[in-house]
Amino acid sequence: MKKIPENYKIVLPPDRIQTRVRELGVKISEDLRGQSPIVVGVLKGACIFLADLVRAMEVPVEIDFAQISSYGDETRSTGRIKVLKDISTPIAGRHVLVVEDIIDTGRTLHYYLSELQLRNPASLRLAALINKPERQEYTPTIDYLGFTIDSGFLVGYGLDFAGMWRDLPGVYEVVEGQPKGHSPKARGHE
Ligand code: IMP
Ligand code: MG
Repeated sequence: MKKIPENYKIVLPPDRIQTRVRELGVKISEDLRGQSPIVVGVLKGACIFLADLVRAMEVPVEIDFAQISSYGDETRSTGRIKVLKDISTPIAGRHVLVVEDIIDTGRTLHYYLSELQLRNPASLRLAALINKPERQEYTPTIDYLGFTIDSGFLVGYGLDFAGMWRDLPGVYEVVEGQPKGHSPKARGHE
């Protein structure tokens, strides 16, 4: 077992995540029955969620990855988005499922989903493990959502803090510096 800092408070235990990911996998497979979708993981955060999700899906898939950087909004209200690595699979006429770890401001996906839409996929769906509405500017339609966590900085199950903690099997809130008694509520979505 890894040693976890004391100020990391568990928000989503591993078994709760696994149950929800299996449910999402079943739902996606029903919706895409008879198809072979391209699953696009947004690096790096989505790698763990994607790995579990595709194994919970009954339809055969292709996997590709994109890496997108988003810059803070200190100077501009719109922020700045850069595609560091694009997918290499042509998606015209194909069913595409984008997999993201967490939707925060929504800028990253607002930008990249519209990029992908220009390539004329047969369908473009989004799966996100966590939606965090607190700072949201753009709210993409999340076809398959694991959990809503109202606020807070989260680590684990792909989510990092300064590059670390993606390997934790559960999701934790970093509570240092926050007022006592503050803890986000995690809601499951059917
Ligand atoms: P957005 O463009 O603000 O929606 O950025 C979303 C990206 O920021 C996610 O894909 C994560 O990589 C990162 N991010 C947002 N919130 C958190 C968090 O609480 N913990 C770790 N990474 C986060
Ligand atoms: Mg991410």
